[in-house]
Amino acid sequence: MTTNEPSRTQWLGRWGFVLAATGSAVGLGNIWKFPYMTGEYGGGAFVLVYLVCILSVGVPIMMTEIALGRRGRGSPIDAIRRVVKESGGSSLWSLFGWMAMLCGFLILSFYVVVAGWSFAYLWKMISGGLVGSSVDDMAAIFGANNANPFSLGGWSTLVTVATMVIVGKGVQQGIEKSVGWMMPGMVIMLLIMIVYGMFSGGFGQAVHFLFDFKASSLSSEGMLAAMGHAFFTLSLASGAILTYGSYLPRRASIGRTTLTVAVADTLVALMAGLAIFPVIFANGMEPNSGPGLIFMSLPLAFQAMPMGTLFGILFFIMLSMAALTSSISMVEATVSWLNDNKGISRKAAAWGTGIVLWLMSTLAMLSFNIGADWTLAGKHFFDWLDFLTSRLMMPLGGLGMALLAGFFLKSEAVRDELDLPAGMHALWLFMVRYVSPLGILVIFVDALGIVAV
Ligand code: PHE
Ligand code: NA
Repeated sequence: MTTNEPSRTQWLGRWGFVLAATGSAVGLGNIWKFPYMTGEYGGGAFVLVYLVCILSVGVPIMMTEIALGRRGRGSPIDAIRRVVKESGGSSLWSLFGWMAMLCGFLILSFYVVVAGWSFAYLWKMISGGLVGSSVDDMAAIFGANNANPFSLGGWSTLVTVATMVIVGKGVQQGIEKSVGWMMPGMVIMLLIMIVYGMFSGGFGQAVHFLFDFKASSLSSEGMLAAMGHAFFTLSLASGAILTYGSYLPRRASIGRTTLTVAVADTLVALMAGLAIFPVIFANGMEPNSGPGLIFMSLPLAFQAMPMGTLFGILFFIMLSMAALTSSISMVEATVSWLNDNKGISRKAAAWGTGIVLWLMSTLAMLSFNIGADWTLAGKHFFDWLDFLTSRLMMPLGGLGMALLAGFFLKSEAVRDELDLPAGMHALWLFMVRYVSPLGILVIFVDALGIVAV
């Protein structure tokens, strides 16, 4: 152990951790994935199951991760190793740290492609490239951007570079500074979008779609997707939250900060639904168009509306910022690990990681064009990255950390770090011991079933 506790960097401002962790949590998951999943899995019933997953699995595991990070004062591998050592456990537990670090990296490999779509559409909106397009044109434009590896790869390279520039500048000067203006900025833009949605004529329909509980639309596939998404949306088991937690000052309350981040993430997902669906419904479109929802239906809808271009630009600026404040959190674990253990400067670590990431994202990006038939068991590399991380690595990592904290660490150490009122502690313990593991096992059995098919 070379780094002793007090020498680890900490967030500068009182809101540093909350802003950075919320920035990590709020991302494409909220604004791109959640609305289209809600559309595909039938609205209100999916939303309810998702909320239950956030509370019963997401929140307790997020608290666990922050506690592990802060007590171990390191990136996932180092932090878990130290915490386990303190309790006299096996160093094999740090394998969960390795998996988390790898998971964040793998997510980023396809995340930059989707973030690249957002930047590409921002540019199309600004340059007027979508003006006068019909439904078919929109599909063709989305297709053409994907079919051209130089365009698709160019945009994802831009995202990769922006991510590495920010992370290379460090925790306080890079991450904390950028989330300090991007997060308030994106929330303001989202609020403006909702007000716009209210006047679009489709608001009532959107509210019903999101909040009416129709048990008949609840499928087991939808429930499993809700559970996987709870991990993804809260950035769990991917190194992000744990590493950000390692910079958390001792006096901060883990319970309160976790609730703030989880509530903010959930509100933004619901708000994104309230910004997107009114515009979709007002134009007589269907909510179930899948991943293309915000890249095909939404820009088309904007076209037909007063000041649509302006609001379209605002929407894609917001989406791009949300994506960047998440992408930086996915590599922080790797960069911090290289920096702490390998004597590599932060800048060099960021660029080195960036180069490997660029190669991986290029492979992911090729799934949409020249690699269209490079599939394994019917899935592209891009789909495999999504499946492996959301359906396998995150649930497995979450399970590992829940069991570690629930059963294997010295209970005084855990109690001391979490520092919750007695009743809350008991509730947390019950969740990580029984409720979260059971919920996760259900996803697992299903995911393995899919692999076997
Ligand atoms: N939570 C982010 C989102 O919803 C995605 C993410 C996953 C970020 C894992 C960091 C780590 O978009
Ligand atoms: Na999220």
